[in-house]
Amino acid sequence: MLEEIGGILYFDGCNTVELAKEYGTPLYVLSETAIVKKCSDIRDTFLNKYKKTRAAYAAKAFLTPAMCKIIEREGLCIDVVSGGEMYTAIKAQFPAERIEFNGNNKSIEEIEMAIDYNLGRIIVDGLDELSLIEKVCKEKGKKTNILYRITPGVKSDSHDYIVTGKKDSKFGIPLDSEIIFPAIEQAIKSELVNFMGLHFHVGSQLNDNSSHLKALEITLNIIKEIYLRYGFITPEINVGGGFGIQYTNEDDRRSYSYFLDPLMEGIEGFSKELNIERPEVVIEPGRSIVGEAGITLYTVGTIKEIPGLRKYVSVDGGMTDNIRPALYHAKYMGIAANKASEMKTDIVTICGKCCESGDILIKDVQVAPLDRGDIFAIFTTGAYGYSMANNYNKNPLPAVVLIKDGKSEIIVRRQSYEDMIKNEVI
Ligand code: LLP
Repeated sequence: MLEEIGGILYFDGCNTVELAKEYGTPLYVLSETAIVKKCSDIRDTFLNKYKKTRAAYAAKAFLTPAMCKIIEREGLCIDVVSGGEMYTAIKAQFPAERIEFNGNNKSIEEIEMAIDYNLGRIIVDGLDELSLIEKVCKEKGKKTNILYRITPGVKSDSHDYIVTGKKDSKFGIPLDSEIIFPAIEQAIKSELVNFMGLHFHVGSQLNDNSSHLKALEITLNIIKEIYLRYGFITPEINVGGGFGIQYTNEDDRRSYSYFLDPLMEGIEGFSKELNIERPEVVIEPGRSIVGEAGITLYTVGTIKEIPGLRKYVSVDGGMTDNIRPALYHAKYMGIAANKASEMKTDIVTICGKCCESGDILIKDVQVAPLDRGDIFAIFTTGAYGYSMANNYNKNPLPAVVLIKDGKSEIIVRRQSYEDMIKNEVI
């Protein structure tokens, strides 16, 4: 997908220097071909391989109406976590029954929206949430499908901010018997909701399947207990997302099968042992679908050399379009797009233009000698870049361009100064 032709970096058949010229920088560039390939990997290794399965794209990684259209076409569902994400999907005419609603603090207005739109699932993330949902269902004369998100108490190996399955977490319902079973009993007996099952999500950017497997074991034990206590066969298990991708050579490249085959084996074995029908299995991949499909293009500005110490190369974006290095010490790789075949004889630190010393995009990267005006491309920025972008220092949000086989189209227009202040009143 990324290649060098005549000294220029090409991405999905597009000359990235031309893209920068045509659309300006900073610029998010997203390859439709790469997204579609990931969706087809999911179909081959999961949806078509195992019956009774669904994949819900975690919209938080990257969501625009155009992305909804791709996900719909590829036959996936969507997982949303806010009224805004729900609204975006609905506005893009994404089928409501294929939308699943997560989130640890859903407002009553968001719950009403979900019920009004007839979303496919609400994943309940707190003890009082079920009563709120029941109240809304009663008022509207509707019944909705729910799952419980549980906190499996598993510590996974990722940055602490993106680990979500450990016991001390704001996510999910704790598994203490006196808490979880009364909640499940209430849901099973409820006339206003269909209890569909259990959900867990252990963390993000995981390159090891052990926390998913540990969480599964814990979840299956609860499902067994539900069967023994209430004679109820849990229809669905949602094992979340978190499948890691390769940002740098330090990350192992893992296939979907690496995570999903042992999970499916565990669930199938369990169902046989208990002699019950296997629950439907749902995954919620976000980053793994869109992360490697994106790059960001910047223009090089000021270059400062601190003798004997470091050379800072500033670009025209930074923590406003990619907050991940500042927030998680996330590492990236990049290259001078207009000097793609030149020898990388320099070591520099690529920094942004925000008024923060922590606004560093890549520390100590080996590059061709850079000059003001060069185009610098940072790879693997498709997930949690645009979706976490912000207007710090009143920097406008970049445009997003969708590319495919050498063709490009704008799917998000660049924010203008006027856009930024239009809600601000004197
Ligand atoms: N399902 C649930 C319930 C989640 O909370 C998440 C991510 C996902 C699915 C998707 O996980 P993925 O497949 O994308 O790893 N901003 C952070 C990542 C936060 C992820 C939060 N939840 C980052 O930039 O690394």
